[in-house]
Amino acid sequence: MARLLGICTITLVVLVMIAAWVSGMILSYFTDPVPYDGPPHPQGDRPPYPGATADNLWWFIHISDIHISRFRDPQRAVDFKTFCMENIDVIRPEVVVVTGDLTDAKTYDNIGSTQFEIEWQTYQNTIKHARIPERTVWLDVRGNHDAFDIPHTRHDTNYYRKYSVLGEQGDTTFMYQHKTSFGTYSFISLYALLDPGPKRPFNFFGAIPEGEMDRLESYVSQVEKQSSNNHTIFFGHYPTSTILTSHRRLTQNLRKGIAYLCGHLHSLGGLARHMEATHKTGSLELEVEDWKVNRMYRIMAFDHDMLSFVDVKLNEWPAIVITNPKRARFMAPEHEPVHKMIHSTHIRVLVFSPDPIKVVTISIDGHVIGAAKHVEGPLYVAPWKPGMYSKGLHEISVIAEDFSGRSNVNKEHFSLDDSKPEQWFIATVVLLIDITKAFMLWNFLMLCPIILLLVMLRTQVRKTAAGFYRSVVVRGLIRLSHVDLFFYSIIGLLVYPYIGPWCIGHFLTGHIGVSTAYGIYTIGSWVPETFGMVVTVIDTLLIYIPLILFCAIHLSPPPPHVSNGTVSSSNRNAKRQNSALNLVWTLVSIPGMILGALFQAYNLYNLYSAYGWLTLFISPKFLWSYLWSYYLAYRAVTAGPVWVRQRSC
Ligand SMILES: *[C@@H]1O[C@H](CO)[C@@H](O)[C@H](O)[C@H]1NC(C)=O
Repeated sequence: MARLLGICTITLVVLVMIAAWVSGMILSYFTDPVPYDGPPHPQGDRPPYPGATADNLWWFIHISDIHISRFRDPQRAVDFKTFCMENIDVIRPEVVVVTGDLTDAKTYDNIGSTQFEIEWQTYQNTIKHARIPERTVWLDVRGNHDAFDIPHTRHDTNYYRKYSVLGEQGDTTFMYQHKTSFGTYSFISLYALLDPGPKRPFNFFGAIPEGEMDRLESYVSQVEKQSSNNHTIFFGHYPTSTILTSHRRLTQNLRKGIAYLCGHLHSLGGLARHMEATHKTGSLELEVEDWKVNRMYRIMAFDHDMLSFVDVKLNEWPAIVITNPKRARFMAPEHEPVHKMIHSTHIRVLVFSPDPIKVVTISIDGHVIGAAKHVEGPLYVAPWKPGMYSKGLHEISVIAEDFSGRSNVNKEHFSLDDSKPEQWFIATVVLLIDITKAFMLWNFLMLCPIILLLVMLRTQVRKTAAGFYRSVVVRGLIRLSHVDLFFYSIIGLLVYPYIGPWCIGHFLTGHIGVSTAYGIYTIGSWVPETFGMVVTVIDTLLIYIPLILFCAIHLSPPPPHVSNGTVSSSNRNAKRQNSALNLVWTLVSIPGMILGALFQAYNLYNLYSAYGWLTLFISPKFLWSYLWSYYLAYRAVTAGPVWVRQRSC
């Protein structure tokens, strides 16, 4: 007994240690700052250095997920007009990158989807009214919402081509080179839209067609040959983690640029306000918060070729971008001459406000350096001695106040010796992993043990053994695995989504298609869309595990009989605890089943609203499977309620 206890303890300790080690590895993989051990940037120790004049400096804006909607939040479009008129006027960006979801394209019920011309007209009118093309370079590309229900890119309903600023030119991989007197900056778009574009929800992940990847590669190599190119910036709607493609090939290309700018995830609905990460290659991936709900956008500046940015909420002024020293977290030493900071003579800050700026105060590590001097435009500078901060991380804080009394503060860490703080865990996980593959793995890890357990119970444990276990769940599972109806049905329900068609219906208006876990076949083409992998995870958790539990408990044979011999008090205690546990399981299984049923109803309602009656009825994955699960539950209940049998013994 003591030996057994010893072995158990050791096993437990070893398991805990392994778990701790694995989680430590995962944590450090995602949070460790990415080291750089390549050669220093060739321009790092060469003048010009950041000083007191407004040279080698320019800025642009990144905005995403505008979602102009004919049904919802009319203020959204009004605010967008304010952005186009006033904010563009105040900030005067040389370029504005708009990474998709220009329109919402959702129907009144917020579930269906199709293109509405009026939303596009609103978008175009706003831009025209604000005379955007005369004032800045506006690079607007499509997002998945702008691709809902579009049979092919040249179709009339692809209003993007008619109403966007870029038009047809922006509806493929393209490059825009921004030329200034001090350098060239290449913006290359990443095109990952589905074509044909199904209605939502099965139009969530992107995919890069072969031809677009080739174009991307050719632009990248074209830029590489230009000695005059100072920076390459990639941009597109989808974070790389939500794109179905050869990630090796994509990474090979994206690592040639300092950053990839994207949107789409809306900061996970506020869960990760800052979805910004450094890839293992040293390039940045910067998702910007949405305009749709949060009214956020990002001012990005290149100062002596070092990239800085700040997130701005509509009507929150003054906006402050600290461009020298740049933020330690987002240093990309392979791409930017971060050494220039050490040689710089001035701290440089851009301050934007509709009203004149009254004062800009700079502190480092809590000590006030002084008030910054206005140079021109938004640039404020203050002399500093970088030598005082040569080791480790330091905090710079800038407070700006305008004449209408508004003030704002921006605090950042900087370092002159390449030190970086740890990466943000959630942001790196979401941006660095391949989300489709992660969900596939999750499905696999969930289904394997369940199926293995049922098969083992069926083949390795005798049917009559069920009566010997105290736990109602164990007894039930043994019985369930020996009843053909339940055994085959449950394995079938769990495995079917990966091997069979999900539903047949109108995934695009007027076109019949078939959907599977791996994509949709419609209008003669295969659309790789893997949102289904997310659906199956949720289905297993909310529908099938509760169903198995419910059936097992109702199928469970009576508990073992009390032996007629002496019953010690500890034995009796154990029994009492056990029946309490059984009661808990039984009670849990009922709300679990009800929750599952509600979720099924919700799924069916969504399916109907998104794709119509036909899809609802011809859906082996949804309606048919759900009906079958009700039938199983019914058969389990009518096999005789467990509490009756428990009382009778
Ligand atoms: C841009 O690159 C050129 C050539 O490498 C360099 O001379 C110039 O200083 C760079 N511009 C800036 C702002 O650093």
